[in-house]
Amino acid sequence: MNPYKPFPARITDISIESEDATLKSFKIELENKEEWQKWSHIPGQFAMLSIAGKGEIPIGIASSPTERDGLLFTVNKAGVVTTALHNMDVGSPIGVRGPLGNGFPVDTELKGKNIVIIAGGFAFTTLRATLIYLIENRKDYGNITVIYGARTPGMLLYKEELQKWQKRDDLEVHITVDREAPGWEGLVGFVPTIAGQVAPQPENSVALICGPPIMIKFTMPPLEEIGWKDEQVYLSLENRMKCGLGVCGHCNCGPIYVCKDGPVFTRAEVQKLPIEF
Ligand SMILES: Cc1cc2nc3c(=O)[nH]c(=O)nc-3n(C[C@H](O)[C@H](O)[C@H](O)COP(=O)(O)OP(=O)(O)OC[C@H]3O[C@@H](n4cnc5c(N)ncnc54)[C@H](O)[C@@H]3O)c2cc1C
Ligand code: FES
Repeated sequence: MNPYKPFPARITDISIESEDATLKSFKIELENKEEWQKWSHIPGQFAMLSIAGKGEIPIGIASSPTERDGLLFTVNKAGVVTTALHNMDVGSPIGVRGPLGNGFPVDTELKGKNIVIIAGGFAFTTLRATLIYLIENRKDYGNITVIYGARTPGMLLYKEELQKWQKRDDLEVHITVDREAPGWEGLVGFVPTIAGQVAPQPENSVALICGPPIMIKFTMPPLEEIGWKDEQVYLSLENRMKCGLGVCGHCNCGPIYVCKDGPVFTRAEVQKLPIEF
């Protein structure tokens, strides 16, 4: 199989996630049903989405491999390709190349551990995939804590699912927004502050953190204060990419290619890279 050749696919559903419509989720089905039956991915992996005449971009897979009604991608309208995607309709053709990258080690290192998911803004996408997978295989993991924040209530992703997760007694879910807002009765405060208040002890635990670099930077000190180590913290990097296969060098960072060796790394691994994160 040619790894540069995308699977022909089609958009089957579009939902507007944010109040300003800059965040939309796209459900996508591969045209070839046999290819779709063979498709499997690890939460945290990404795919290259291509739009004819516009280009190809890396986007994290927001659906869990256990969801078999299509692939979900949640996309922020940023520039040329993402704007073209936002302008597409249900039924529009699209190319999908993947799954690519390593993903979170859900079936190895994470098994039997307490898991803390910490997310800010639209970086929650691959952590949604991870959370759904953990819930589907609930008995394989210890306590699961979710700390997720957005600027405003209207910018939170997957609002209906958040409500369902908050009602479950086998999850501890803390949703926060940056500032008070009319009608919002939940937590108010930045993700790092809330993480400092509710993060569990580090024994037999791992944290999966996705968000803007500034959020990650300020989330670490409160975790370190209660004993969390860099080896217990997984991050997902978002370098510029072209091939997604470790060939072109676009995502190269010292000794590693983020597309092939990542995008998921422990913070201990990231600390050794020649980048400031
Ligand atoms: C592994 C990975 C997973 C990603 N997952 C998601 C996701 O789930 N949802 C999502 O919305 N986006 C995701 N991104 C970012 C997404 O790939 C970029 O926003 C996209 O490539 C921009 O393409 P464009 O043609 O619309 O923008 P362009 O026209 O190329 O650029 C528009 C603006 O976006 C900035 N930009 C371009 N590429 C990146 C990048 N890689 N990171 C940050 N800023 C960038 C440019 O500097 C410019 O300011 C991911 C990136 C990586 C590497
Ligand atoms: S994107 Fe080409 S080497 Fe990583």
